[in-house]
Formats: sequence, C-alpha cells, structure tokens
Amino acid sequence: MANQQIERRRTFAIIAHPDAGKTSLTEKLLLFGGQIQVAGAVKSNKIRKTATSDWMDIEKQRGISVTTSVMEFDYRDYKVNILDTPGHQDFAEDTYRTLTAVDSVIIVVDGAKGVETQTRKLMEVCRMRNTPVIIFVNKMDREAKDPFDLLDELENELVINVRPLTWPIESGPRFRGVYNIYEKKLNLFQPSKQVVTEKVEVDIHTEDLDNHIGSPLAEKLRNELELIEGVYPEFNVGDYLKGELAPVFFGSALNNFGVQELLDCFVEIAPSPRPVQAEERVVMPEEPKFTGFVFKITANIDPNHRSCVAFCKVCSGKFTRNTPYLHVRHNKTMRFSSPTQFMAQRKTTVDEAWAGDIIGLPDNGVFKIGDTLTEGEILHFKGLPSFSPEMFKYIENADPMKTKQLNKGIDQLMDEGVAQLFVNQFNGRKIIGTVGQLQFEVIQYRLENEYNAKCRWEPVSLYKACWIESDDPAELEAFKKRKFQYMAKDREGRDVFLADSNYVLQMAQNDFKHIKFHFTSEF
Ligand code: G4P
Repeated sequence: MANQQIERRRTFAIIAHPDAGKTSLTEKLLLFGGQIQVAGAVKSNKIRKTATSDWMDIEKQRGISVTTSVMEFDYRDYKVNILDTPGHQDFAEDTYRTLTAVDSVIIVVDGAKGVETQTRKLMEVCRMRNTPVIIFVNKMDREAKDPFDLLDELENELVINVRPLTWPIESGPRFRGVYNIYEKKLNLFQPSKQVVTEKVEVDIHTEDLDNHIGSPLAEKLRNELELIEGVYPEFNVGDYLKGELAPVFFGSALNNFGVQELLDCFVEIAPSPRPVQAEERVVMPEEPKFTGFVFKITANIDPNHRSCVAFCKVCSGKFTRNTPYLHVRHNKTMRFSSPTQFMAQRKTTVDEAWAGDIIGLPDNGVFKIGDTLTEGEILHFKGLPSFSPEMFKYIENADPMKTKQLNKGIDQLMDEGVAQLFVNQFNGRKIIGTVGQLQFEVIQYRLENEYNAKCRWEPVSLYKACWIESDDPAELEAFKKRKFQYMAKDREGRDVFLADSNYVLQMAQNDFKHIKFHFTSEF
C-alpha cells in the first residue's frame, strides 16, 4: 500500500524563461487533471492573477508571480504534484530552492527564441542534482527555428543529450501538427483552445501519410524521421533518469496541442520520489518512518491571517496529522493540527501525506529553509547552497521607534530565504544581497505591512560576496586585516569577503594564493 502510494507520485516543476509558456502549459496540465474545466478560456496571465500564486498585494500591483505554489491532481493512475515557480527572474533564488523539492522537471522553450538565459541558469541547478528533464518546445504555431537546429542548440546550451519523441511538421502558419515517434501516430493541428485534437494512426511508409499532409510534406517528414533515427540513439529511460538524456516534445501550449503526448509520456517515465541525501545518510522514500524538509516559506497566503506557511516535502514514509514530529534544529516535538494541501488558492486540510507530497505547515516563525522533521531521528537534509547575490544595498532603519520590529522582520525574512544578510565587520552595517531589484521592494513592502517597520536603502557598490577559507590561518588573518573594510559575516557567522570589483577580486586571488574564494555558501 505504502509503496503503491509512493510509486504513483510524480512531483515536478515546470521551468522556463519568462514568456516561454510555463503558465499556459501549467493550465493545460490542470485541464487534463480535471482541476479546471475550460482550457484557453482564461488567458495565461489572467490565470496567473486569479488562480495560481497571486497571494501578495505586491503581485497584484505588478502582475508578477512572486511566490511558489503547489498544484496537485490525479491523472490516470498517477498523482501529479506540480510545484509552481516564480515567473520573474528576480526571484530565481526561490526557483532554485523549489528545485531541491522536485524529482524531475519539464523545461519549456520558446521555439522561436530557443534557449534563453534563465533556462540556462535553471538547467545548471538541475545538473548539480542530476534532475531528470523533459523539454517541451512551445509555440510551434508561430514561426519557429528549424527543429534540427533547435535540438543542437538545446544540446549545446543546456549541456545534455537530447532525443526527440515527437516531431513537428513545419511551424507558424504552415504548422500541420506533430508526428508522435513514440506511439507512431500523427496528430494533426487545429488551432483551438477548447478541444484536444484526435490522433490518427498512420503508417508513415504508405500513402496514408500523403493523404493527410500532402506528398511534399510527407516526403520531408519521412526523410527527417530517417535522419533522426540515424543521428539520435534509441530513447533510453535509464539515461533520462540519470539526468543525462532529455526527451524533447514539440507543440503549442496555448492551443493545447502536443500537451497530452507530453503528459502521457511524463507520467510513465518520470521518476517517483527519489532517495534524498541527508548529511547522515541517504533516506529512501519507502522507509516507513516519516521524514521531510522545509524548502520554501511564504507569507500571507491568506490575507486575513497574516501567518506564514512552511512548505515541507515529504521525503519518506507517511505524514499523519496531529502526530508528534521532531523539529531537528530546535530539538522540539511539534504536532500539526491543520496541515494543508493546495490547489491554487484553495487549501484543504490533509490527514495524511506520502513521500513525494508537499504539505503546508502553519508557521509563526519556527521554521527556516532547510529545516528537517522526523519521527525522532537526528537528520539534516542537504539543501542547495546560497549563491553569491548579484545586487547589494545597505539596509537602514527609517523609523528609530521601530528598531525591534525591523530587526525581527529582517531576521524572519532572511529565514524565509527572501534575500541574504551580511554584517560588515568594519562598520557594523547590515547589507542585504539579492538576485534582483524587485527583491528589495518586496522586503521594504513586507517590513512595512507585516512588521510595521520602515527601512531605507543606501547604495553600496559591490561585485560579489565570497565565502573564504584557508588551511593557512596566518594568511587568513593577514587577508582579513588587509581587507578589514570589506570583511563581513553571514548569518551563520562565516567569513565573507565583499569584493567591490572583479579586478579587486582577481588581485586578492593573486596576492593570497592559499585562500579559497567560494561563490556559494557550501564548499
Ligand atoms: P510564462 O508563464 O512562461 O511567462 O508564459 P505564458 O504562458 O504566460 O505565455 C506567454 C505568452 O505567450 C502569452 O501571451 C501566451 O498567450 C503566449 N503563448 C503561450 N503558449 C503559446 C503557444 O503555444 N503559441 C502562441 N502563439 N503563443 C503562446 P501574452 O500575449 O503575453 O498573453 P495573453 O494576452 O495571450 O494572455
């Protein structure tokens, strides 16, 4: 029973460069899962505003998906959990963390634009963890790049082997559909948001194909399929599961075309919950005892109650409501009387959840990203390291009467992983580091709205934060002395060198040969 429950779970995220079609694809998957009734009736950014992760006022003002939500549905015999990721690249850090909680990903690429910056970065994180990926080339109803060129680009830019499982017949106004290499069926395109097109079984070597798409295209398709078989090795599920080979599908999410093929193949080949590495040992999903870790904390899901929700990925066993579990970092037993599962804004209380599931735990400040829950065992799941931020600002108190509130707010927001805090050891000033400008605005907004504190930003010109270490304590001391104005501590009390330019950093690396400069917090 337990194993069956775990086996049928598919927990994944859809990742893409903004505008590639992540929202549209998510919407269509929800349609197949019976979670929404009409496809295309809601425009993509409308669903973003009404149905998915629009929990904070700031999002409503900006129309940017800031937080991460979870959507779950049943499809065939499978239970699918989609972890939504923020649509804006200023919140990339959030997406990285979400990737620690998924067992596989679907990458959406715009057929006309190919691989874009954000896709490349997210793929790097997948590669760090050997996450299996499936690629969906979207917007084939628009003029797209040549599919062979696209495959080369995917392979080179994402540094992964690819294998097409469907193949497009032209693109843009001439787009006729896709041939399903996997099922040997032809799926003819009709631009429609409402219906799923009928597939026809054709033997591509007979005139049947010519009758459907005309002789010139039939001939071209035959040649291309022959070329594919010649160039790309057979699709091997084992290589996919190792994160070495990505199957590629073509379609149009907006038109709900090619999506069902993707979903059908996905549920069959995507991994069920995978073993998770803790510092102490590897935890297998089918172990009877519950373990889980917090990968994400969001505030203000319910605007009427200003509490946070900690999202916990169940790594093994079964989570049961109202059962005492150990919060390992606090060494404290906790019971959860109202754990929730999510469907966009609807939450329901859950009595039990299995490995692979995501549960929401009400949080009034007891959780931090990476916290582990168990039935008593001392375990620490490994998260993802923090990356050096890209932007830095001094944070100053703009209301001296509210110092306590400000400090508490900063502390909790950092626990949630909204940004990184460094304290300059020379002048004692606090520096916030982020991936993008928007994060500063979110922090300021939330400090005011949730903590009743006011902050002010002051510029500081920095290039990178480097965590430093050395086997030579004397050299480390000498370095810290020389760079005392640029030395800071992170929240764990580790030494961080704040380099104000690439040049300065290179000089430092030259002058201090025995010091290692790390750009991530774990090394
Ligand atoms: P995102 O979440 O990755 O940012 O992308 P989203 O699905 O919101 O799609 C971005 C834009 O691309 C939307 O247009 C959407 O309609 C369009 N789009 C998505 N899939 C396809 C497709 O298969 N074919 C075509 N032709 N367009 C597609 P928009 O103009 O920004 O929004 P809207 O006015 O359509 O809502």
